[in-house]
Amino acid sequence: MIKILDRNFELSYSNELIQEKVKQVAARLNEDYAGKNPVMVCILNGAFMFAADLVRELTFQPEILFAKFSSYEGMQSTGVLRELIGVNANLQARDVIIVEDIVDTGNTMYNLLPQFINKGAKSVKICSFLQKPECLTAPLKVDYCAMEIPNAFIVGYGLDYNGMGRNYKDIYTVVED
Ligand code: IMP
Repeated sequence: MIKILDRNFELSYSNELIQEKVKQVAARLNEDYAGKNPVMVCILNGAFMFAADLVRELTFQPEILFAKFSSYEGMQSTGVLRELIGVNANLQARDVIIVEDIVDTGNTMYNLLPQFINKGAKSVKICSFLQKPECLTAPLKVDYCAMEIPNAFIVGYGLDYNGMGRNYKDIYTVVED
C-alpha cells in the first residue's frame, strides 16, 4: 500500500508483468513495421516511461518525437486539443505511431488523430500501454494495446494523481474510502 497526497493506492500490476506486456506489444510492432521507419510520437507526460521501455524492444528503426497537448482548455467546447509541444517533423507520407499511456473514454486520442492525419501522414496508428474498454465512448480503434484493465483510477509507470506518482515502476489502484 502507498499513499499519494490524500489517497491510498494498492499494488495492481508489477513491473515484471508490465515488462512482459511491453515485450508482447513490441513484438506485434516489430512484425508490422519490419523494414519501415515510422515516426513514433510519445505523448507527454504520461507515456514517457512506456515509450522508453517500448522503443528499446524494437527491431526496426523509428524516428522518436515528443508532443504535448493540453487536456483542459477548449476540449469540452470544441473538441480541439491545444498543442503545447508540437511535432515539427514533416509527416507527409510517413507512417505515424502515437504512443499513449492510457485510453479511457478515448476522447483525447479521438481529438488528437486529426492533428496527425491533417499533416499528411500515410498511416496513423495508436499504441496505448493501457486501455479501460468499459469506459470507451469515442468511436476509436486502439490498434496496439499492451494491457486492458478494469475501470479504476491508477497511478505509476508514468501515470499520475494530481501530478504525483509517475515515478513508480509498478502500477497501483486507488483504494476507495
Ligand atoms: P481519455 O481522453 O478519457 O481517453 O483519457 C485519457 C487521459 O486521461 C490519459 O492520457 C491520462 O492522462 C488520463 N487518465 C485516464 N485514466 C487515468 C488513470 O486511471 N490514472 C491516471 N490518468 C488517467
